[in-house]
Amino acid sequence: MGPISRREFVRLGAGAVAASAAAKSIVLEPTVLAAQAAETGKKIRFVSIGTGIRGCDLLRSAKKVPSGVCVGTADLYNMHRKAGVEAYGSDVPTTKDYRELLDRKDVDAVIVAVADFQHRRVVLDCVAAGKDVYCEKPMSHNVADGLAMVKAVQADKRIFEAGSQRVSNTVYKKAAEIYKSGRLGVVTLIEAHTDRNSPSGAWVYPVAPDANAETIDWTTWLRDAPSRPFDAERFFRWRCFADYGEGVAGDLYVHLLSGMQCVTGINAIPERAYSTGSLTYFKDGRDYPDLLATLYDYPGVTVKVHCNQNNASGDVTIFYGKEATMTINNNTVTVVPQDTRPQPEGYALNGWTAEAKQKYLSDWHASHPQAPAALPLTETFSAPQGYDDTADHLANFFQAVVTRNHVVEDEVFGNNTAIACHMANHSYFHKNVATWDAAAETIKG
Ligand SMILES: NC(=O)c1ccc[n+]([C@@H]2O[C@H](COP(=O)([O-])OP(=O)(O)OC[C@H]3O[C@@H](n4cnc5c(N)ncnc54)[C@H](O)[C@@H]3O)[C@@H](O)[C@H]2O)c1
Repeated sequence: MGPISRREFVRLGAGAVAASAAAKSIVLEPTVLAAQAAETGKKIRFVSIGTGIRGCDLLRSAKKVPSGVCVGTADLYNMHRKAGVEAYGSDVPTTKDYRELLDRKDVDAVIVAVADFQHRRVVLDCVAAGKDVYCEKPMSHNVADGLAMVKAVQADKRIFEAGSQRVSNTVYKKAAEIYKSGRLGVVTLIEAHTDRNSPSGAWVYPVAPDANAETIDWTTWLRDAPSRPFDAERFFRWRCFADYGEGVAGDLYVHLLSGMQCVTGINAIPERAYSTGSLTYFKDGRDYPDLLATLYDYPGVTVKVHCNQNNASGDVTIFYGKEATMTINNNTVTVVPQDTRPQPEGYALNGWTAEAKQKYLSDWHASHPQAPAALPLTETFSAPQGYDDTADHLANFFQAVVTRNHVVEDEVFGNNTAIACHMANHSYFHKNVATWDAAAETIKG
């Protein structure tokens, strides 16, 4: 291998480190799972309620986590029940009625992956049955749901993990370490977006050919929303409709904001949110815009978020610090130093005479006799190939169920993030600044 050029990155094996003159690249290891491998002890017996898109993914990730075993699943749709069993890959008992699972004494914990408007009922039932809960993001469909869930979880002292897996992601943990070290200097602005440009990215999911009122228990599915005749599009594309989902805020902002909270350590509801946006392309009867952009006032930092369903520019979060810029791009975090070394003024001297300019420059150099120090290295940290942060997040949950120690994303954290998402929608639909009234526990504006 030839000499390493200034901008060349070297990718090394897990845990190894190398440095060139100006840049280094490191492959991180999964954190929670690695720590857990050293532990022995109880296997958590869990059940899964909702085995649709996410429920199946969770079951596939759970298979990688040795401390948990799935002992039952439930879903209201015949094909999703079969898909859940297929996803876990063993003969787990499955039912239409999740209450049968909650009645079982051999069940420690529940993974809840039903649609957002159904979280409240299912979580409250789980808590009432004495089970610990991993509930998918966004924790709540509205402020009242979130507050009810926090109250129930805390009253019954259950372990609760909100399912925004980037809070357990090894890259975000590294970013948090860097942020907390002060290496970025004062950070006044954070910018985050998830942008995609496809029908799937805008939730125009196919309606399965076998979907009908016989194969889906529509009445039970709809019981916490306004009644209407069976509608397969609403079943598969519930994210588009305000009765069931929260648009891009609940689907995607929640990841961006939980990641931001994880890195900065901010666990608070923003003071203000101001949104703009538009519905320009996916005019298919949906309730939500296909572009939403929001400015938030979080304690000490402005956070600018957008999700665009009409341009695929990926998933990026940028922390702008006085000393360095840190960018998380999917499963990689890069820290690029800012050049804040003293230097003589250039631009403003354009209006000076040659004599004045020369005098200024010679004075400046006389008062700065030392050569400037070298800039710190640009550093990149990446997750290993095939890394699955959902497995790490589930591992964190199972561990907490055993130890009764804190999870990384408890009910307060999850609720704070969800409220920020609701504030974004509130501002967009009310065409006003949304503020959080902590005393009244409500969004104003
Ligand atoms: N963390 C992530 O990256 C991520 C990704 C996708 C979805 N999600 C979240 O996961 C949740 C589920 O989303 P999805 O895409 O899998 O939706 P989905 O519609 O594909 O699946 C939800 C399933 O829940 C079932 N269900 C609803 N009520 C039920 C009940 N009372 N009893 C049994 N089953 C019931 C439905 O029949 C359906 O099969 C949502 O909250 C979503 O926001 C999270």
